[in-house]
Amino acid sequence: MSNTKGIILAGGKGTRLYPLTKVISKQLLPVYDKPMIFYPLTTLIHAGIKDILIIINPYDETLFKKLLGDGRQWGINISFKIQHKPEGLAQAFLIGEDFIGSSNVVLILGDNLFHGDTLEKHFTRSKSRKVGSTIFAYPVKNPQRYGVPEFDKDGKIISIEEKPQYPKSRYAITGIYFFDNSVIKKASKVLPSKRGELEITDLIKMYLNEMKLHLELLGRGITWLDTGNIDSLNSASNYVKIMEQRQGLKLGCPEEIAWRKGLISNQDLLDLAKPLIKSGYGNYLIELLK
Ligand code: G1P
Repeated sequence: MSNTKGIILAGGKGTRLYPLTKVISKQLLPVYDKPMIFYPLTTLIHAGIKDILIIINPYDETLFKKLLGDGRQWGINISFKIQHKPEGLAQAFLIGEDFIGSSNVVLILGDNLFHGDTLEKHFTRSKSRKVGSTIFAYPVKNPQRYGVPEFDKDGKIISIEEKPQYPKSRYAITGIYFFDNSVIKKASKVLPSKRGELEITDLIKMYLNEMKLHLELLGRGITWLDTGNIDSLNSASNYVKIMEQRQGLKLGCPEEIAWRKGLISNQDLLDLAKPLIKSGYGNYLIELLK
């Protein structure tokens, strides 16, 4: 079996952020000191994933390529595919079919931010399950906005609903999902929902019906934020600012994580830092070497 691959879904119109996103992709907007896409990208590198497909809108291609290139500078492979019409999260596996090939795959939404030092443990465990799917649930105050799992008394998932009016738990299903290769076939069987989208929830339910769905509960020591509207975008920026200023450690820094994972050398890190000196980002990278 080939290595697990990763997909970042960074298409979509971002209408909940208008007019900010009228001429630029949401995932290129700043979350404090770096473009939003850096956060999910860093999460995938953190999870040990080196082959990454980014699904984008047609008119964003030049900008994304200018920002991320082919990933070589960070010791990974990045490729792009266009989503001509945003028709739901499950569409990612149809667009990404050739890229996925015979591998297992992790999907992360381009506007999701994960932070916490126990994440790696969850990711390693999820990746080691070669069959089935693993999803992550996180307690939130407003589960109505998300996919929501229902649990039996032993903590097993018995149902999942997308944006339920009356949620059956206080947990949201977060925007990172691990799937085995059968996801391609399953995605082709998903029918459009009432809102006209190929729902990821319907895909996950297929795994649930086959009794191949695993759950990782993310506890209160982990931060999960999404950044899809003005308030949540602003909160995410504030969160990153507070953490970075307090600890002097950056969140969502692909250069750092690539270096820590041994994907690039000290010299590579230094070379990446040079053009970034004036903003302080470069200095941060250089300080890591000391
Ligand atoms: C999507 C999924 C939902 C999930 C959420 C996580 O919702 O449909 O199940 O909980 O992402 O961010 P959307 O953000 O597309 O409304």
